[in-house]
Formats: sequence, C-alpha cells, structure tokens
Amino acid sequence: MSWTVRDSSFDKARIITNGNKYMTGNGYMGYRGTLEEFGRDQLAAVTLAGVYDQAGERWREPVNAPNGLYTALVCNGQRLSVLETEPLDHKQELDIRSAVHRRETVYRIPEGGELIYTAERFASMAELHVLASRQTVKCTADCRITIETGIDSEVWDINGPHLQDKQEMFKNGVLLASAVTGELQLPVAVAELSVFGFGGLKLSKAGALRRVTFDAKAGEIYEWFKYAAVYTGLDMEGAPEELAEQAVQAAAEKGYRELLQAHRRVWEERWSRCDCLIEGDAAAQLALRYSMYQLMIIAPTASEKVSIPARGLSGQVYKGAVFWDTEMFMLPFFLHSDPGVARNLMMYRIHTLDGARRKAAEYGYLGAFYAWESQDSGDDACTLFNVNDVFTGRPMRTYFRDEQVHISADVVHGIWQYIQFTGDDSLLLDGGAGVIWECARFFYSYAYYNPVKERYEILDVTGPDEYHERVNNNAFTNALVKETLEIALSCAELLESRYPESYRELHRQFTGGPFLTEFRTLLEGLYLPRPDPDTLLIEQFDRYFQLEEVTLPELRSRVINKNEYWGGGNGLATTTRILKQADVVLMLHLFKSAFTKEVKQANWEFYEPRTEHGSSLSACIYALVAAEIGSPDWGYPYFMRTATVDLTGESKQYVGDLYIGGTHPAANGGAWMAAVLGFAGVQFDGATVCLKPALPKHWQSVELPVTLRGGQYSLRVTRDEIVITAAAGNREALAFAGFGSPAELCGPGAELRLRLAEPAAAEN
Ligand code: BGC
Repeated sequence: MSWTVRDSSFDKARIITNGNKYMTGNGYMGYRGTLEEFGRDQLAAVTLAGVYDQAGERWREPVNAPNGLYTALVCNGQRLSVLETEPLDHKQELDIRSAVHRRETVYRIPEGGELIYTAERFASMAELHVLASRQTVKCTADCRITIETGIDSEVWDINGPHLQDKQEMFKNGVLLASAVTGELQLPVAVAELSVFGFGGLKLSKAGALRRVTFDAKAGEIYEWFKYAAVYTGLDMEGAPEELAEQAVQAAAEKGYRELLQAHRRVWEERWSRCDCLIEGDAAAQLALRYSMYQLMIIAPTASEKVSIPARGLSGQVYKGAVFWDTEMFMLPFFLHSDPGVARNLMMYRIHTLDGARRKAAEYGYLGAFYAWESQDSGDDACTLFNVNDVFTGRPMRTYFRDEQVHISADVVHGIWQYIQFTGDDSLLLDGGAGVIWECARFFYSYAYYNPVKERYEILDVTGPDEYHERVNNNAFTNALVKETLEIALSCAELLESRYPESYRELHRQFTGGPFLTEFRTLLEGLYLPRPDPDTLLIEQFDRYFQLEEVTLPELRSRVINKNEYWGGGNGLATTTRILKQADVVLMLHLFKSAFTKEVKQANWEFYEPRTEHGSSLSACIYALVAAEIGSPDWGYPYFMRTATVDLTGESKQYVGDLYIGGTHPAANGGAWMAAVLGFAGVQFDGATVCLKPALPKHWQSVELPVTLRGGQYSLRVTRDEIVITAAAGNREALAFAGFGSPAELCGPGAELRLRLAEPAAAEN
C-alpha cells in the first residue's frame, strides 16, 4: 500500500488536482495525471523541460507538446467518457515505485451489459523521449466499439498559443504532429504508433487521429499498445519529426513489456539510492515516498541546461521558471542521493551566468544578480508588476525581481554545498568559481557603507518573507551575503592550492577588482543582526519589531476578498508582524552551528505563530527546525502538511481567474529535508556526518541510503542507536558522530554502531 496512490471513484471536482497528484514524467517531459479522453479543458498537458516561448506580449512560459496518448471510446454509437457518462466504477492509481499510471473504468453499455476499459501508461525513464501505454477493453455483451486514438494537438496553454504552422500527417503507419514555436521558431514534433493485438478492424483517419472500429465479443479482452515520442529543436542533431518517428518505430519493435521492464529497472536503481523507511508511521511513509517520487519525475538526469521549475513539469504556472526553491529546498535531496542530478542543477546556473550579469548591469551593479524567475537564458522572467490587485484589477508593483537579492547568494550556497557533499571540485573549474566570484562582486556593489555606524549594511531588499518588501538588513539576506563572501575566499584558497595554474588564469579575469581584498573588507565590516541578549530574538529586518502586533486570526478577519494579496504597498500584512513564510527560522537552519539551541527555540516560538505559511516553502522549515531544537512533535504536523500537499491538493488552485496550481517540488524537497535532516538528524558539513536524531514519538526508526563524497552508506537511526554500514566498494573512510560523541571513521565495508546516551529527542 505504501507505494500506491489511488482514487476509487470519479469526481469532476478533482480533475485538476488529480492532474497534479497523478503526474508522471522523466525530467525531459511531465505528463499530467489526466485521463486518456481528457483534453485542454481538463488541463491535459505534456510539459517540456527547458523549452520556452513567448506569445505576443504575454508572459513567456514553457511549451506543452501535443498529447500523443490521447484516446477516446465509442460503444454502439455512444461516446464513453467520464466527462459525459457516469461510470459504474472507476479507479485511478499511481504506482510510485515504478511510475506507472493506471485507470480502470466500467461503463454501462446502452443496450445492456458492461464495458471495462483499462489504460496503463508511463513516461519512460530509460528512453526519455518515449511515452508508452497499454490499453484494453472487455465487455459483457457483444457490441460495436470505436477507438479514437492518436495525437491531440489542441494543447492547453496559459499564455499561448505557442505552436504555429501545425502539421498533421500519416507516414508509414505513424501519426505525426509537428509545429514550430512562435518566438524561437523551434520545431516540436510528436509521433505516435498504435499496435492492435486483434483483427477485424475498420480504419479511418482524421488529422492526427485514427478511428478503429470492430465488433467486440462478450468476454474477450481486446488489447492495444500506444507508443508516442517527443523531440524538439533543442535535442540532438536531426529533424525532430524523423527522430520522433524512428523512436516510435523502435519502441514498437521492442514492445511494451520490454520498454516497461527497462523503465522499471531505472526506477529500481533510483529508489535504491534514496528510499527512506519509516517504522511506525504508514501515512508518513507514503507521503515521504510520494514527495521523493515527485522530485524524481522532474529531475534533469540528462541535461545540464535545465533546472527544476517551481511547479515542476506540471504545467506553465509561474512561467515554468526556476526560483531559489531549487537550491534551497530541492538540492539537498539530490546531494544525498543523486550527485549527478545535483551537478546538472548547478551547471544550469553556470550556463545562465550571462543572464545574471546582464541583470546586474541593468540595475547598475557589478557581477551577477541571478534572475528571480529564471528560464532558458537566465534573463529574469519576473515582471515588475507580478500580482494583480483584486480590487482594482490593476497590476501591482512588486519587488521580487529587483530586491530578492538573496537569490545570488542561494546559488552560491548551492554550488558550495555541491562541492562539500561530493568533493567534486571540477565544478569550480567548469564555471562554478566564476559564478561564486561574480555573485560576491554583485554584493560588494550592492552593499552600503554606513559611515555613522561604521559598518556595511544591505539595504532595500526583500527577504524570503515577501509580505515585507524593501526592508533593510534582513537577517537572512545579510547572513547569506556573509556566506557568499566566505565561500568566495575559500574558493580562491582551494583553487590556488589545488589548481594553481587554472587559478592564475581565472584570477586574471578579475584583475581590476573588486576581488578578494574587497571581499575581505566587506566581510569584516558586514552588519549581521544578532540575537537580543535578553529575549534572544533576532529581528527579521530593521524596525520589524515596530510593526503592528496582531494575531493571524485577527488579520484573517480583516480580509475583504479571499484572493487579496497580503503584501505589496497596502497589503494586509505589510504593516504588521505577520510573515508569509519562514525567514529568520530558515536562517537558523542554514547556519545552525552559529546559534545556540536557546536562540533557535526562542525564535521558533516567536515567529511560528506569526507565520501565515502563505508559501508551500514554509511549513517544512518549521518542521525541520523543531526537530533541530529537540521538539519533533511540534514539527510533525508541519512535516505532514508539507509531505501531503500534492496528495491532498490542499493548496490554492486559482487566484482570480489565474490558475496557480500544479505540483510543489520545493515542498516535496522540504518534506525530505524535515524527515532526513530534521527527524533523522543527518547533518553533513563536508567532513563529518553528525547524527542528531529527534524522532516523532510514534516513529521507531528511520532507515535510508546516502551517497556522500562518492561513498555509499546505509543509515539506520533509532532512539538509542545509529547503525552505519559503508558499501564495500567505497574508496575511502568517512567520519560519523552522534550526539557529542567523538567522530569515528567508517571505512569501506565496515559497520559502525553509535550508541546514543540520551533518548533521541531529549537533547540537541
Ligand atoms: C514564495 C517564494 C517562492 C515562489 C515559488 C512564492 O510564493 O514566496 O519564496 O520562491 O513562490 O515557489
């Protein structure tokens, strides 16, 4: 059961949220969890990673490809579709172990009897361009069936249309739909081949659809297979139509079962690197696995030119843009389980450095100011008016694009984490060092020297809490700027000692500065908001404590329109202490060793009741830090809320008439962070793995594999003991420590047992 997600009835009201819940994908494309007969109105979509288009003046967004798995049934002249006919029975199911989607629908045949329709499909993890499906019908009375199947080119778009010059044709038994995108003129091609396992078919064709009619005998099972392939002009050399056609021919030759086996083998291997077992909590087990599943179906395994957008590959919401969500909320999962994907994610930032340089220059700064909403080129897709006022209908000026400067520090943080976790410092030579230094240069030009207070300050920023824009000295941002400067210096040291020649060459590009000397000056003089000696509280930004003290229920009672924006110039929260999402508390997690448990606890307790969790990036951080302060049961409800966000669909789907739903990969990554970094307490600083478990009261143990510095380990964490097993093939030993006990080395093939003197949740 803990591998299966299921709905056992059909509910029209769940069509859109089920489209998210039942997502499949393989990093190249996402296939929404819609049913075979669904089209654009039900938000059916095959969203392509990294392929963007702008139609007219509308927001630039990813391109959805024509749906090569479209299928509808007609029985004795009546269309059978859950949209038009109430089914007698209906199941929709996702096997997250091997990413296979299934549906089974039973319809009444108008003249008597029943028809059972099944369809299974997957986006191949072994052949990333291929989608495959196996479908059957069986009826209890003889009837005449027409299967309408092929490619649906009427794609769902938010700011489209993106596909022009659409062509549809039949060639060698293959259906082809092709088009070009409007802005970049990129060809997009989809091919489809259906193989019917029975005879007596009458065939007719219309556009990219074929109609197959046959007389079905009661009790017989009629089976057919569909193979679809998608290629675009961004793929390898060759015409996308030809590549797509060859791919479906090759898929059909292999056959469905062989394709499925290959797909399963890849999934088995993926799970073997990350599956996390929770003993004592079946609901948490499924939700955590599901969160990891959502991350794996959108992970770029084969490209370093794309990263993971804030809504994954579940459509075009948020312009398909990549935010800080990736580095701060998703990267940790990949760093512990799939360093190859982690590297691709960081390479994406290296490839988009020029966009970040252009943005810095546009604002008159030096270095690299990364896009708040990044697409293919790294130029910022975020507009200056990113939210519509529900009262006036007018666009509101927002300060996400120009002031969330922490994005550049988040990128640097991600790159350095990658180096620490993998030991693969080649990333620095492949462009990582340039990114780090350019971001440090950006902050050097952004910082303000306050001659009265004799310190550098970071003014006019928006921190993670977007309800308070244009603030000064946001504690989170200042701490991240400090980290960027430290990393810039460490990066120079590392390169100088290990790769002196490359270092000299790279260094030359920065002569004329500002460079290391200036970074040091800024670092030494940078102001960091510190805990108040009496209350231990860290002020989120200058004068935050002067804002109106109001409870969340009181603020909610002031809402006039349920979709009104709480931030901005006259937002409800702007003048109050209510924050959108974890801000100071996230900083406490990132720099955990710089703060005492008392400081963490005081700030958690202060900010928690004042946080609206208006972003899905928030709850996981409160769960994580609750565990870090030894109070996992405070964090558990936040963990479950995060881990189930895409299962329950309990998140905003619309603001006004704007669809903002989709999957929530940052929350998926956050759920993993809360469970593994928080409750299991796995904390790696690049040298030693410290295990500080704080298990929720009904969890007996957590068991998981991790990949650290190229070595594979399996960890079993219980309340009183931690068992570490190192794979025999590891090349070196790694140090592990638990709760203040001295670190011990765990060599290749060794098993290490660390006894925990105190009960796991009692101390930290
Ligand atoms: C959050 C941001 C986040 C973005 C995309 C916003 O609501 O406030 O922190 O990056 O959504 O997930």
